[in-house]
Amino acid sequence: MQICPSDATLGAEVTGIDLRNPLSDADFAEIENAWHDRGVLIFPGQNLTDEQHLAFTRRFGRLELSIRRNGSNLGRLSNVDKDGNVVPRSSLQARFLLGNTYWHSDSSYKSVGAKASLLAAHKVPSEGGETEWADMRAAYDALDQSMKDWLEGKIAVHSYEYSHKPFGGMEILGPEELKHLVPVEHAVVKTHPATGRRNLFVGRHASHILGEDLATSRALLERLTEEGAQSPRTYKHQWRAGDLVIWDNRCVLHRGHRWPDDQARVMVRTTVAGDDPDNEWVMQEDAAA
Ligand code: OGA
Ligand code: MN
Repeated sequence: MQICPSDATLGAEVTGIDLRNPLSDADFAEIENAWHDRGVLIFPGQNLTDEQHLAFTRRFGRLELSIRRNGSNLGRLSNVDKDGNVVPRSSLQARFLLGNTYWHSDSSYKSVGAKASLLAAHKVPSEGGETEWADMRAAYDALDQSMKDWLEGKIAVHSYEYSHKPFGGMEILGPEELKHLVPVEHAVVKTHPATGRRNLFVGRHASHILGEDLATSRALLERLTEEGAQSPRTYKHQWRAGDLVIWDNRCVLHRGHRWPDDQARVMVRTTVAGDDPDNEWVMQEDAAA
């Protein structure tokens, strides 16, 4: 196995390992260490089946329940309908995907955010459609001391409705599903459980800071996201069908880039739930394990 770090503060490409087969504990430990160090790992050309994708996902922890709470952890991010046609740009399906073009941490609108996301490319456009990640550990380190001091102990409200309403997020779910997606609170500065490094925890689902003026604190959160997600703290991947990427939602933000509206892009994502023992978003089959 070769692990080749990028020139940025995050990201590495991993080759010489076949994820279709069960991983030895030693190989998994090497991958997990590199993941903690680099935040994002690219595995080019793996071409996994959904079952192999899920099996690799499970090595990192328990599976997370989707917003539909329907028992499947495999999420399809696709602009193709069931007959294989690219959906119109104005459709709910295409509009929902557009939300992903803003920096975010997956599931940060849930009471416990996602630990890891594993995204596989099944069909890619001829241009565009890259995914980009931002290292919010390095972003925290780059803040001046007075900002670090001010942010200490601050809590942000993250809300599904706040971030998803403009993209049809309220229309794709029923009242029962929405009942589980009430606004939640997360510290703005987090400490990573494995590395002990501190990082900013912000992004599109973060609405405002508790106890602060709504508009001012919203603008501050947006500024922290924007200024944090700058070179050399960003890493962008141009997908090829078969690639698999895993990232750490606890300390890395990501966003998708647009591609020509008339071209198909089909991605499959699995999600590892946050490690908290009483995480209500852990899939039941995994909760018992
Ligand atoms: C995701 C996501 C962006 C993309 O899978 O969680 O935000 O480029 N994807 O598809
Ligand atoms: Mn995402």
